[in-house]
Amino acid sequence: MAAALTIDDLKRQAKRRVPKMFFDYADSGSWTESTYRANESDFSRIKLRQRVLVDMTERSLAGTMIGEPVSMPVALAPTGMTGMQHADGEILAAEAAEAFGVPFTLSTMSICSIEDVALHTRRPFWFQLYVMKDRDFVYNLMDRAKAAKCSALVLTLDLQILGQRHKDLRNGLSAPPKFTPKHMWQMATRPQWCIGMANTHRRHFGNIVGHAKNVTDMSSLSAWTAEQFDAKLSWDDVAWIKDYWGGKLILKGVLDVEDARAAADSGADAIIVSNHGGRQLDGAPSSISMLPSIVEAVGDRMEVHIDGGIRSGQDVLRATALGAKGTYIGRPFLYGLGAGGRDGVTRALDIIAKELDISLALCGKRRLTDVDASILMGNPFRS
Ligand code: FNR
Repeated sequence: MAAALTIDDLKRQAKRRVPKMFFDYADSGSWTESTYRANESDFSRIKLRQRVLVDMTERSLAGTMIGEPVSMPVALAPTGMTGMQHADGEILAAEAAEAFGVPFTLSTMSICSIEDVALHTRRPFWFQLYVMKDRDFVYNLMDRAKAAKCSALVLTLDLQILGQRHKDLRNGLSAPPKFTPKHMWQMATRPQWCIGMANTHRRHFGNIVGHAKNVTDMSSLSAWTAEQFDAKLSWDDVAWIKDYWGGKLILKGVLDVEDARAAADSGADAIIVSNHGGRQLDGAPSSISMLPSIVEAVGDRMEVHIDGGIRSGQDVLRATALGAKGTYIGRPFLYGLGAGGRDGVTRALDIIAKELDISLALCGKRRLTDVDASILMGNPFRS
């Protein structure tokens, strides 16, 4: 792991270790992937202001996200099928996040269940909810997340209907899955991954099998999932979910100022400015380009967080300077997981923390909580 100096190094290592169809699943965006690319490239348009001769001996990245202490404001984003990058993937990522002192968010579509992750962690993690048509299942999921002492519910709003990812379709990652001999060969040439995966599927059934009506195995799961995302989801649903959950609520997938105002009206504790990592509406703007206008509109009413395209500590610094009170990484931790399991996730967090610490100092600041737009050379996304 020590050979990996950047998130890109971890990506290259993961690409060698994870079968192509599952690496592609993590790495792809929807349609032409223009939003996915813009998420990453727009960060480099924000220039940092270099300062000198400031005492930088005592430095701190620590802060809070929705009132919870964090060693740096970088959470692991919810990612479905994380266990496809590495056996026991969700558990290993949660353990790495816990040891690092940053939040871990478990996806509804995980391979290890809420209970599996709770068994391996002491610090409360966050649970991400997809609202399915089967409302009994949704209530049951929230009950299970409460029983596991999850300290926040991350309600995803931008997946009422599934964006199309060409790589997944070509790779047979559809519902139901279609595996060709080529895909079986990709797996067979990674025997270690295959053994790990076989064990994972013996031990873990995810959050849905055995809990949703008539879902008893992987094939009934795939049919159920394909028709369960709720195209009718509305702000009224946010209201009953908030009431039933009763704890901290983060709304994920807001990319528009008007939606951000509605989110603030709903009484949520935070929003995540996000386009689902460029996996939903291709052609939508990058998350970072929308951050300033959303912070201006609602930043005094709720915490504004961001995900999408964060690949370095400098990116975390830029987002913080533009008003984000928290950031999330999706693919960077998945690359780490694919490259080296728990150590790989820790490495991804280490890389980001080190870059963040050094860049903070070179901008003449000692504490990340003191950072504002004054560390930037202007703002290319001024609202
Ligand atoms: C995701 N994302 C996601 N979001 C969510 O709310 N629930 C989910 O189950 C998933 N699943 C998922 C799988 C994979 C493989 C990826 C890459 C992403 C979106 C995720 O939470 C986050 O918004 C993006 O990953 C952030 O962009 P970056 O950091 O990957 O560029």
